[in-house]
Amino acid sequence: MGGKSGRHAVVTGGNGFVGSHLVRRLLDRGDEITVFDSAPPQPLAGPGAERVRHVVGDLRDAAALGRAIDPGVDVVYHLAAVVGVDRYLSRPLDVIDVNFMGTRNVLDLAHAANAKVVLASTSEVFGKNPAVPWDEDGDRVLGATSSDRWSYSSSKALAEHATFAFARQYGLNATIVRYFNVYGPGQRPAYIVSRSIHRALNNRSMVVYDQGRQTRCFTYIDDAVAGTILAADHPGSCGQVFNIGSMVENTVGEVVRLISELTGVDTVVDVDTAQKLGRSYEDLPRRIPNSAKARAVLGWECRTALRDGLVKTIEWARAADWWLDLPDTGAE
Ligand SMILES: NC(=O)c1ccc[n+]([C@@H]2O[C@H](COP(=O)([O-])OP(=O)(O)OC[C@H]3O[C@@H](n4cnc5c(N)ncnc54)[C@H](O)[C@@H]3O)[C@@H](O)[C@H]2O)c1
Repeated sequence: MGGKSGRHAVVTGGNGFVGSHLVRRLLDRGDEITVFDSAPPQPLAGPGAERVRHVVGDLRDAAALGRAIDPGVDVVYHLAAVVGVDRYLSRPLDVIDVNFMGTRNVLDLAHAANAKVVLASTSEVFGKNPAVPWDEDGDRVLGATSSDRWSYSSSKALAEHATFAFARQYGLNATIVRYFNVYGPGQRPAYIVSRSIHRALNNRSMVVYDQGRQTRCFTYIDDAVAGTILAADHPGSCGQVFNIGSMVENTVGEVVRLISELTGVDTVVDVDTAQKLGRSYEDLPRRIPNSAKARAVLGWECRTALRDGLVKTIEWARAADWWLDLPDTGAE
């Protein structure tokens, strides 16, 4: 597709779920890309693959990161992070070091290179604020620091603070996007949509917690990527944060029923979390963004209906044997 755009982007976490889709989209519009990731490079199919350079390294290693973010870079999409409940329970210190100190390294280098930064943040920064839908400047309501569950929220919030501080103190051209329950092809089977599809296609029962009464706003990967690129390109995004999330609220039970209908697997096991996981387990009853700002400023809309996104994801998964063979990392 198209010729070279003349833009040079760095994508940290470019081997991950969101990052790999972003890389594909940037390649399609002609960008030169450097992927910085601690995981080994993944072979890229399709046109433009020769425009991707890989730097393998850890975000905490500023020298390694400096081999990716150099003065020729126009924009850094900073997506690399320790993500997922299973990981922030098993690697609580890495969550803080990578998500905060790694971001600090990205900001230092991007500032020196005079590059724009787009920080991928999360709806988790709002914690358990009951006042949904959440505006960008909604309050953060969190639990105790003795619960590792909240370290991800705090590490990402500190990364946001540092990004705003660089923008105000040093004039760094930076913007923040907060994703809400992104799903789609290639996601690790550790989240409600990916895990349910993974289990259903492996002929295993799907699992819901507390009868699946919690609600979420599910955002298809293509929409999340579109919002990320709009935030990078739009001159009005500087120093701003945007909620990038569908505003359609579904219960987890509804989503699992849809997956059941689309895959033909209808066994669902219900976990009573109070009994099985103890009182320290905390779930959020509702998580809803107000994404009107992204619409007004960036012209972003969540275009993919949940059913359509699930159909695409299931179709992809049926043909992805390597993905179906991955271990299921969720708690039962
Ligand atoms: N997927 C979602 O629903 C969602 C929701 C909210 C926010 N986010 C944010 O979006 C970003 C991408 O998430 P994802 O779902 O693609 O996660 P992912 O786990 O699929 O990808 C993260 C990538 O970062 C890399 N990485 C991790 N630690 C690193 C380190 N120390 N140095 C270098 N690379 C490292 C990993 O190898 C991986 O390729 C993250 O910043 C996450 O916080 C995602």
